[in-house]
Amino acid sequence: MNYKIINFNQLGDERGHLVVVEGNKDIPFDIKRIFYIYGSDTDVVRGMHANRDSEFVLINVSGTSKVKVKDCNEEVVVNLDHPHMGIYLGKMVWKEMYDFSKDSVLLVLASTHYSNEEYIRDYNEYIKECEEA
Ligand code: TYD
Repeated sequence: MNYKIINFNQLGDERGHLVVVEGNKDIPFDIKRIFYIYGSDTDVVRGMHANRDSEFVLINVSGTSKVKVKDCNEEVVVNLDHPHMGIYLGKMVWKEMYDFSKDSVLLVLASTHYSNEEYIRDYNEYIKECEEA
């Protein structure tokens, strides 16, 4: 499946930690957009879509959450529970983010500018396109 766990180097010293994420170095694309998700209740499920053109890296820079990643053959659940880890999601994977801690700030780096047209929000449609690919 088209995803990868990325462990970023932790820099820093007695003053605290510092994590650097450089496009095309630490992650495999140019960063065109960032957004972040916070204030989601524990019982909220976000995402529930796939993207035809975008690649993403998700990092819980504060708190924790889980992400379920699926394609038409398999699924995995990854705990995002360290500010120095990320998950890379390639094009055309289905993702669901949930189990947000109260202090969760989920940072998302994206390879594209936002375009609603490249989203597949209907799961049946996703499975169809995934199986045709
Ligand atoms: P949505 O895709 O539902 O968020 P999530 O996948 O995290 O559950 O996006 C929520 C709203 O924000 C929706 O109206 C689209 C808008 N939006 C943008 O305008 N630009 C963006 O880059 C993103 C990610 C969302």
